[in-house]
Amino acid sequence: MQNLDIKEQELLEAAKVATNNAYAPYSGFRVGAALRCADGSIVTGCNVENASYSLTLCAERTAIFKAISDGKLDFSAIAVYVDSDEVFPPCGACRQVIYEFSPNIPVIYGNRKGYTKTTIQELLPGAFSLSKG
Ligand code: THU
Repeated sequence: MQNLDIKEQELLEAAKVATNNAYAPYSGFRVGAALRCADGSIVTGCNVENASYSLTLCAERTAIFKAISDGKLDFSAIAVYVDSDEVFPPCGACRQVIYEFSPNIPVIYGNRKGYTKTTIQELLPGAFSLSKG
């Protein structure tokens, strides 16, 4: 397990706090995400489910779309927290969306028991990309 610096710990904690707003009445799976933006600010997101299940938005994409729509395009790290004892890395759709804006970003994913620190390139080798070759 790689150690987290103080900023990364703060980011993971923000992701954990964001699980409090998860709207997950169908899965009961509470997820939070936190993005570190270039200006130092943190933008958070949670999963938002729907009775029409496929309309569900994951926490990571909620955070990224919130940040982008606020004009924040550069990110230096993303943390994801799942309120579970099991380890859950970001889903494939979220990996692709993270890659779109941050092809070198560190990704920290944690749960009640610990965390893993990796990179989006490790999670999504050979990513589909039109703009970055
Ligand atoms: N979920 C996320 O928020 N992020 C992921 O990377 C994987 C899955 C959410 C979507 C849904 O609300 C619940 O977890 C179960 O799939």
